[in-house]
Amino acid sequence: MIRKPMVYALLYVSQSNLDGPGGLGAVKDMVAAARLRNASLGVTGALIFAESHFVQVLEGSREAVDELMRSIERDARHRDVRIVREGAVAARRFSGWSLAYAGPPALLGTLLLPDREQDGEWADRLIATMIRFAAAA
Ligand SMILES: Cc1cc2nc3c(=O)[nH]c(=O)nc-3n(C[C@H](O)[C@H](O)[C@H](O)COP(=O)(O)O)c2cc1C
Repeated sequence: MIRKPMVYALLYVSQSNLDGPGGLGAVKDMVAAARLRNASLGVTGALIFAESHFVQVLEGSREAVDELMRSIERDARHRDVRIVREGAVAARRFSGWSLAYAGPPALLGTLLLPDREQDGEWADRLIATMIRFAAAA
């Protein structure tokens, strides 16, 4: 019997040290380098940069994900790295992406400009998000 190798997945959030001018460009450069290393390690995943915070999912062999996290945790471009969830998963969720990336403009675009007719739940979620923005402003 051929057994599929286990997929190990990890989700963390951190606080950005790149939230000034030039931060977006620095993150894009970092993503370009990260894609090469992830591809060579067989790691896939996604990164969201929301100016003040990063959220990242990494998935691959346990060894590869651990090796990457050792680099990522000591990276001075962010701080307070908090692993939210980690463990084996049945299958990769980002198998087409060495590192899918969404920065602030893309995030706002997807949040505000739905590309199809949306249900009332979407409007409720948007209003709830706007209330949180207003409270934080
Ligand atoms: C938020 C954030 C996410 C990162 N994600 C990755 C990644 O997915 N893959 C990667 O190779 N490097 C990533 N890096 C860069 C690594 O921290 C590190 O600089 C790079 O892998 C080189 O490793 P080294 O410093 O051990 O040589 C990320 C850095 C930050 C700040």
